[in-house]
Amino acid sequence: MGRKAKVIGLSLCLAILAFAAWHAKVSTASPVDKCLECHRATWEEAESMRYIHLPFQQKKCLHCHESRKARRQRRMEEKRRSEAQVTWLGRNPAPAKVQWLNFKADPYGATVLVEAKGPGVGVRRQRVKIPPVDDLDPLPAADAPPQIKNVRVAEVERGIFLSARIVWDTDKPATSLVRYGIKALNQNSGLDTSYTNHHEVVLTGIRSNRTYRFRVESESMGGKKAVSEEKEFSTARAFRLDDEKAFTAAGEEGELSLECKVFRGKDDQYILRVTASHPVAVSVGLVPEERDKSYGSSDSGGEVVKHIITSSDLFANITVCYTCHREYQKILSHPINVYPKPGMIVPSEYPTLDDGRISCNSCHANHASDIPFRLIKSGKKELCIGCHKDMA
Ligand code: HEC
Ligand code: HEC
Ligand code: HEC
Ligand code: HEC
Ligand code: HEC
Repeated sequence: MGRKAKVIGLSLCLAILAFAAWHAKVSTASPVDKCLECHRATWEEAESMRYIHLPFQQKKCLHCHESRKARRQRRMEEKRRSEAQVTWLGRNPAPAKVQWLNFKADPYGATVLVEAKGPGVGVRRQRVKIPPVDDLDPLPAADAPPQIKNVRVAEVERGIFLSARIVWDTDKPATSLVRYGIKALNQNSGLDTSYTNHHEVVLTGIRSNRTYRFRVESESMGGKKAVSEEKEFSTARAFRLDDEKAFTAAGEEGELSLECKVFRGKDDQYILRVTASHPVAVSVGLVPEERDKSYGSSDSGGEVVKHIITSSDLFANITVCYTCHREYQKILSHPINVYPKPGMIVPSEYPTLDDGRISCNSCHANHASDIPFRLIKSGKKELCIGCHKDMA
């Protein structure tokens, strides 16, 4: 049965979704399940009520309860940890808008980090979920081998050692190899397997005052090889072609965006195509699957659990509410964050901030309630009279 050609593209939005899912997994699921191991009673009590605040039900506990400083530290720690664990697999250093990278990874799927850096546009990192290699179709094999153009010696440099930089272009992404020598082409540069249209190979350890012969080779992703004609260069003097700034990008406007697409290459390799809005250098690295992040620190010995540093009661009872109920700030007519006026006694069933000021949760139950709008008391009148005896 003919396999249906189905190239699975990971579009920008899929990558973002994958990232969002990854992010959600890290920042909520595991630490919050730990919260409930100790605060089960709080959870069950709320779940038994009719009106449950949505963010509570969605277990966004940290959103309200984690202090901002602790959050900043946790995010930095998570970032540091995930970056430290990246194993870099490949890099295309010459900026271009379309980059091809081939790499080996777990054939059953993996998560890779794509990092793009461009002159004037900064750095962008994007996580891409790679499906099992069998789910990807191979790149359509090119019928024709790549066409090699513009073969030239860009530079002969006398540093501590002598080196020569050979550059050329191909009409399709292909690998790079230079064969060279004095009498015969008996040396080679080593195969650079990254697929590119602009090739650059530096020959090191060559001798001065000689004439070298060389030839370049490029193999397409479909395995079709092209070989250039033989050329020569002399190492009698150092030189550098002027046109070599061609690849530093002209400053382009706009934000850097990336689109990644994965294909199956030779020998179960993955081939990643990165299309960028600006010319960028691209690196690809392997990110380990997210393991359950333990909450606090618990080693097999005596269990040590560090509690989260909770937010201030001002933050949990007022400030955070506005992060989701922005419109409410405009329509709210009742004063909050104020002290009761002299003579007014706030009964204990209306929670206030520690110092006695009125908060949103003086009228609204913090997590859940049986009363509509999660009010503390049923009936507006009853609610108001508790504090405003004079309204009776
Ligand atoms: C190892 C058990 C344990 C874990 C895990 C735990 N707590 Fe607590 N938590 C406590 C204890 C004990 C107290 C203090 C007694 C009380 O007020 O119930 C407390 C108090 C609190 C308080 C009220 C006091 C304050 O500091 O404002 C909040 C809010 C709270 N925890 C939230 C959380 C959240 C959110 C998580 C998960 C990120 C969590 N807790 C995880 C045991 C735990
Ligand atoms: C919308 C904000 C918000 C969310 C979301 C939220 N809480 Fe609370 N929670 C509060 C407020 C406000 C209080 C009142 C105490 C205070 O000032 O910190 C409170 C109090 C608590 C307390 C101490 C008193 C009590 O009622 O038992 C615990 C424990 C607690 N929350 C745990 C949780 C857990 C666990 C979650 C997630 C399932 C959660 N909270 C989600 C706002 C929230
Ligand atoms: C993470 C976002 C978020 C935060 C923070 C948040 N809310 Fe909400 N709140 C919601 C959502 C979502 C709803 C449901 C809206 C709907 O159903 O239309 C809601 C509903 C409500 C309602 C209507 C009754 C109900 O439970 O459906 C009240 C009252 C309310 N919130 C008060 C507060 C107060 C007070 C705070 C601060 C302690 C707060 N909210 C913080 C997201 C949030
Ligand atoms: C003095 C008591 C009181 C205070 C304080 C209070 N509310 Fe309310 N809130 C109510 C009542 C009563 C309702 C029921 C709807 C109505 O009559 O407007 C309500 C309704 C709401 C609703 C639902 C609005 C709707 O139409 O769906 C939200 C959201 C809400 N409050 C958020 C807040 C936030 C956020 C704060 C703090 C900044 C706050 N409330 C402070 C009494 C209060
Ligand atoms: C938890 C206690 C509490 C509850 C419940 C409460 N209030 Fe108030 N109210 C206060 C405090 C405190 C002030 C500010 C005191 C002052 O006037 O300086 C206030 C002020 C007011 C004012 C004067 C507003 C202004 O701009 O000066 C009005 C009107 C009012 N409340 C109406 C109500 C109504 C209506 C309800 C019921 C929906 C209600 N309150 C519920 C505590 C409460």
